[in-house]
This record gives sequence, C-alpha cells and structure tokens, in this order.
Amino acid sequence: MPHIEFDMSILDPALLQELDEFIEVQEFPQESIIAILHKAQELFLWLPRELQLHIARKTDLPAARIHGIVSFYSFFLEEPNGKYTVSVCMGTACFVKGAQPILDEFRKQLGMGPKDKITKDGVFSLNDVRCIGACGLAPVVRVNEKIYGHFKVEQVKEVIQHYRELEEQAQ
Ligand code: FES
Repeated sequence: MPHIEFDMSILDPALLQELDEFIEVQEFPQESIIAILHKAQELFLWLPRELQLHIARKTDLPAARIHGIVSFYSFFLEEPNGKYTVSVCMGTACFVKGAQPILDEFRKQLGMGPKDKITKDGVFSLNDVRCIGACGLAPVVRVNEKIYGHFKVEQVKEVIQHYRELEEQAQ
C-alpha cells in the first residue's frame, strides 16, 4: 500500500482553531459533516488532503469517507482556485456553438498548459464545465458568479483585461 506523507504544518493554526470550535459545537459532528466541510472550505478556500485528515480525526470518521464526500460534490475543491474562476460551458448547446475555441483562447491568453487549472500568479482558474442551465445564451462563459452569454472568441482578451484591472485596483 503506498505511503502518503502529509504535512500538517501547511494548515494555518488560527484557521484550524476556528474550524475546531465550529466542530465542537456540533451536537452530532458525523451527521454535520457537509456543514463542517463547507465551513472548512469557507476558511481555507479549498480542502487539501491534510485538512481532510484533520477533519477525519476530529469527527472520528474514516479519512476515506471524508475524501469520498469531497470528491463526490463538485462544490468542494481539492485544488486551490484562482481569485477569478473562468468556467467555459462545454454542454451540447454551447459546444456546437463554439465553446472549444473559446476555451482554447482563454488557455492561450492566460499562458496555461493543457493540464493547468490555475495561472502561475494564482489570479485565474480555468475550467470546462457541464451545462450550467443557460443554454438559450450559448455559448456561455461564467466568471465567478457572472454569466457572459453569446460569448465570442474575440471577447476573451477584454474579459481577461477587465479582471486584471480589478485585481490591480484591489492591491
Ligand atoms: S449547454 Fe451551455 S448552458 Fe446549457
């Protein structure tokens, strides 16, 4: 069986303490595991394996069960996300209206390799997603919660520019 090394020191102690306090006030922590994972993600922004292991120890649930839940629900993140998550819909309606060239153009302009999920500066994540329920607007791109409908490849540059400017203003 492969031995996996966990480095628990990557977890911020102050955030861990806040999480532990949240777990301690749960009457039935095992039954509140989804709420606990949500709280953990709210604090840490994603759920590294070390954090999953910590939660397993605190709730007396098997680590494999925690990992099963985290992998099952798409809203739980096992990798860090960029500040702005660009999701290109690859559902049928969007795909036939040119989603692939849009995804390729984002990848190219963000300087990302075929397997990269996040830009080197951590500002952008790029995902292809299944139908997001806005097929009438196909092809659709979502950046965090904002939906861009009838998206054109030519808009990629301006959208990236917009979020880069927001990022600069925030600094
Ligand atoms: S297929 Fe893209 S929103 Fe439905």
